[in-house]
Amino acid sequence: MTAEPDPRNPRPDLVPGPLGTPPPEFARRQESGPLEPAAMPSGDLVPVAVRYDDVRTLLASPASSRNLRLPGLPRLVSGIGIDDDPDALINQDPPEHTRYRRIMHGTFTPRRTEPWRPRIAKIAEDLLDGLGDDFDLVQGYALQLPGRVICELLGVPVDRYEQFVRWTDMFLTTSTATEQARHQGYTEFMAYAAELVARHRASPGGDLIDLLVQARDEDDRLSEGELVNTVFSLITAGHETTASMIARGVFRLLLHPGQWAELVADPSLTGTAVEEILRFDGPPASAFMRRVTEDVDLSGGSLSAGTVVMPNLNAANHDPRAFPDPGRFDIHRFAGHPPHPHVAFGYGPHRCLAAALARVELTEAVRALVTRCPGLRLAGAPESVAWTDGLVYRPVAMHVTTGGGVPERPGS
Ligand code: HEM
Repeated sequence: MTAEPDPRNPRPDLVPGPLGTPPPEFARRQESGPLEPAAMPSGDLVPVAVRYDDVRTLLASPASSRNLRLPGLPRLVSGIGIDDDPDALINQDPPEHTRYRRIMHGTFTPRRTEPWRPRIAKIAEDLLDGLGDDFDLVQGYALQLPGRVICELLGVPVDRYEQFVRWTDMFLTTSTATEQARHQGYTEFMAYAAELVARHRASPGGDLIDLLVQARDEDDRLSEGELVNTVFSLITAGHETTASMIARGVFRLLLHPGQWAELVADPSLTGTAVEEILRFDGPPASAFMRRVTEDVDLSGGSLSAGTVVMPNLNAANHDPRAFPDPGRFDIHRFAGHPPHPHVAFGYGPHRCLAAALARVELTEAVRALVTRCPGLRLAGAPESVAWTDGLVYRPVAMHVTTGGGVPERPGS
């Protein structure tokens, strides 16, 4: 296979299905084209790994490099993109990457994250209190929550809060800010992040920045510049992914009113439901490409040293070898102990640093909705919801109504 990249549709081979479902093409590829190339948004053709085992092997392999800053390699996007930033954590290889993760080990564990849950739940509830009965769940809720959470956790004072949210919004891939505005926003933001770090150093407290300042591996700790970069990475890596997962997850639940009603009746099921949301709809963007530095054998074939490959996490989450009947959305799928954990947070050394935090955000976002707005439903036909066409795939807007009362229709 090869398809000519169409400028209006840069991913001709991997077109999502109706209602934001995964590309139907995944199933055929898993069976008969497990490493077939597909066009990246840049138009470059790159082999795509779609089988669960192959994706995990690639992500865990010491032969997988994130250094794509060599001349002539395929690109994810045209122009300067995330792959070009040598300081971004996701672009580092050992030993730099190993050192950083060692220092950070412990900062984002579930034990460290759990005490933040009540603050996150309160942010979700406060947002809903301000929204009324009919609102756009994407702009009014999903996109608001992660920005507010990270401000709160970083200890951004209230007087700088609005400015901070404006900066973080500017870094979204879907932002309409001009290149010049983004650059200015970035410079101002970095200066402010440096000020925040200095303030927390001078008078330590219990915020996330204090944990980052204290984080260490024996005598090794992050330098001033690394701390400021970390604050930036946490915002850029965490904002849009979490917002999109909330939007996609709530959309999926509202398409299954019986399962929504189960959550309303028993909100303690929310944590398990979130795992299925992550499997079915996650992650909202594919993983980052890898360059293999030596020959690698996979179930779908071999990749020779130097090949750049895209491990597709959403495809792996829909591999029937790992998840029976993968097209069925079932909030009970992960009840008990799943034999095959999903890979919505990646796998191996670059696995999402803040997966525990993201899980708490998603769970509290959904829990607040099922408890505060039990009768929530889409205001229009699901087919009328428009989806983004950028790197991150989510509804552009989602008009909902709280309707009042519990949904009547079980089943589905
Ligand atoms: C539901 C929300 C989220 C999803 C689905 C998600 C998914 C991912 C995935 C798939 C990766 C690995 C990419 C790869 O290996 O190519 C990753 C890495 C990362 N994520 Fe998340 N993420 C989420 C939320 C967050 C949040 C809230 C933060 C921070 C506050 C965050 C910070 C990071 C960082 C720093 C990395 C890079 C780790 C490294 O390179 O060692 N993520 N995330």
